[in-house]
Amino acid sequence: MRQILLITGGVIAAIAFVIGIFTFNQVNKEEAALTARIQVRSQVLAESLVESIQPAFEAGATSSIKRTIDKFVGDQRLSGLAVFDNTGTVILSSDNSPDVIDAELLAAVMGRGEPDGGFARNESGLLYVSVVPIIGENQETIGALASIQSADYIDATIGSIWRDNIIRFLLQTMLIAAAIFALARWVFFKPLYDLAESMRAARRGEAVDDDKIGGDLLLPLSSEIAKMTGSLRQARHAASQEARMRLEKIDTPWTAERLKEFIKAYVKDRPIFVVSNGEPYVNTRGKSGIEWTVPAGGLVTALEPVMEATGGMWIAHGAGEADKAVVDKDDKVRVPHDEPRYILKRVWLTDEEVAGYYNGFSNEALWPLCHMAHVRPVFRKEDWTEYRKANALFAKTLLKEIQGVERPLVFVQDYHLALVPGIIKKSRPDAQVAIFWHIPWPSAAQFSICPWREEILHGMMGADIIGFQTQQYCNNFIDTVASEIEARIDLEHFSIFREEHQTFVKPFPISIAFPGIAEREEKADPALLSRLGIHSTHVALGVDRLDYTKGIPERLKGIEFFFERHPEFIGHLTLLQIASPTRTSVGTYKKHADAVLAEVERINARFGTRDWKPIVFQHRSFSHAELRTLYRLSSMCLITSLHDGMNLVAKEYAAARGDESGVLILSQFAGASRSMKGALQINPYSAEETAEAIFKAASMPKTEQHRRMKALRTSVRDYNVYRWSAEIIKALAELD
Ligand code: ADP
Ligand code: G6P
Repeated sequence: MRQILLITGGVIAAIAFVIGIFTFNQVNKEEAALTARIQVRSQVLAESLVESIQPAFEAGATSSIKRTIDKFVGDQRLSGLAVFDNTGTVILSSDNSPDVIDAELLAAVMGRGEPDGGFARNESGLLYVSVVPIIGENQETIGALASIQSADYIDATIGSIWRDNIIRFLLQTMLIAAAIFALARWVFFKPLYDLAESMRAARRGEAVDDDKIGGDLLLPLSSEIAKMTGSLRQARHAASQEARMRLEKIDTPWTAERLKEFIKAYVKDRPIFVVSNGEPYVNTRGKSGIEWTVPAGGLVTALEPVMEATGGMWIAHGAGEADKAVVDKDDKVRVPHDEPRYILKRVWLTDEEVAGYYNGFSNEALWPLCHMAHVRPVFRKEDWTEYRKANALFAKTLLKEIQGVERPLVFVQDYHLALVPGIIKKSRPDAQVAIFWHIPWPSAAQFSICPWREEILHGMMGADIIGFQTQQYCNNFIDTVASEIEARIDLEHFSIFREEHQTFVKPFPISIAFPGIAEREEKADPALLSRLGIHSTHVALGVDRLDYTKGIPERLKGIEFFFERHPEFIGHLTLLQIASPTRTSVGTYKKHADAVLAEVERINARFGTRDWKPIVFQHRSFSHAELRTLYRLSSMCLITSLHDGMNLVAKEYAAARGDESGVLILSQFAGASRSMKGALQINPYSAEETAEAIFKAASMPKTEQHRRMKALRTSVRDYNVYRWSAEIIKALAELD
């Protein structure tokens, strides 16, 4: 646009210059012609008058001269006449004759004895003064006569020439500017823009219509560019084929870099939008200002490294007391705070919404409904209402963000947001939506007790893909759909058809970033254990949110039974239980925390000595770095979940054991037990089995530890969270 304006401006300036020169010439010529005409006319008139007054002048008959000149002025429509004697003094003048006669002109005429004239100007306008000498008998100048007439028409004629030419110039300018503008835009710049756009599309790897590159004007150039984009396309295709083959090779480890390459090859850098209830960073006010922490929980542990690798946007509930203080006007903040890689967009919920949607329906209804831990789900109508409202709010926030984004990839997380896929798909059928259910899916019979089961299933089936941790949960889900709603189930492909929409149900066992920070070989400083008051030879470690599904009371029973059975370990083995407070506003969790603390006290009182405690209980969160140190310093890690979607602590323990030592004791009811074959599997409901596993771990020879730990580490390295996300993204992208 700027170029077009510049070209048009330049052409207008040139036209203005040419028209200006022509007008100036025309004006000069016209002025010369008009002046010559007025000169001749005035002189002829003056000379004829001199002839008629000469006798009277010579006779000094002034009254006769006066009569003659007054009549002459009237007849010839002159502005004035004046008669001078030989000294240049006015003898007579017509009535109202303007006083404009130049004394120098008069003197020159009288001196030379020849007529002359000139222009003068007074308040009535332009005047022409013609002076003719009166010559006596002896050829001497005896006086002079001056005639004055209006020359205004000369001004008017010149003015009209300028005016006409300016109007002509303006009209021409408008026409020419419009023509140039249209010409430049459509004939010149449009093909150029098209050419640039085609090249940009070729650079992005999108399809380019070669016929449209540049149009006729740039034909020679465009055919060359068409060849170039063709080669680029081929090279890109070859590279992407090669990348795909490379990326699909199972035996090379998945890393953040490989995931990035994979995203480029599979989804061509389409942005990824993650929506979850929990946020990856919580901002609080500390002693040194606003601080951030990573909350405990498998969802955040798994997804954060994925988002760091892929970039994109993560929409989550801002639950931290200082969350609002760090976001911009769109409620966004770039994270991680020290090295930003993706955008965290926070959704704000009222206390009432949190009470009903989060504490109520999510944690008191769906969580116990999906986990077989013998806690009764509570279904309250008002919680359900808040759950629906909050889901609509999350969906609305996402819809706003994906406005204008073509075929966005949307990845909804967990049981808090079961209704979100349905809402998204309704407004944006082009969006590719997956929901991942991080927790178990119960049997159809168990799920049938939920009063709003149909709405939940419909909401989830808005997604193109529903991911679960294990094949068993997929089977349970398909059974549930079959018994609750009308839909066609395709068991061959594990998909559900409902109103023309197909939803695939697939297992994607979640994992951790390994290799990654988990593998960093920092030195495990035993001082951390000393600071916790632990000096035993054997440390059995438990790391969990203080949740009733984690089987902590059962673990405590197991340890008690172990000391009963193997008193030789009293004073030599300590259970370090790290339990981060969780969902503390929910009554069941408060009661559970109290019960666990009481059990710890009871067992410590039963077996403890002056300088040894069987159980060291830490009721707080630790940093990931501290946890890695503790994983390395422990002889065993105890996972006794009564029911667990996956359990990432099991995978973190294996990932941290670069020394290939240590033993993992793993509940058979945790999803992780499906793939972690080197673990000692237990039924946590059996205190005897747990106690025997602790004994076996404490006495296991190093060689067996190595063999088992190697297998565990291989399983986590082969199926880490980068691969997990790549498989989900690949499944989504392949739906095209
Ligand atoms: P869940 O998601 O049910 O909490 P997982 O075992 O899958 O269970 O994931 C728990 C995550 O939370 C792990 O990454 C673990 O390291 C972390 N975590 C658990 N307890 C603590 C704690 N006390 N301090 C810090 N992180 C914790
Ligand atoms: C489990 C759930 C997650 C949740 C996490 C922590 O892993 O599957 O969705 O984020 O627990 O629970 P919280 O209620 O503290 O977010």
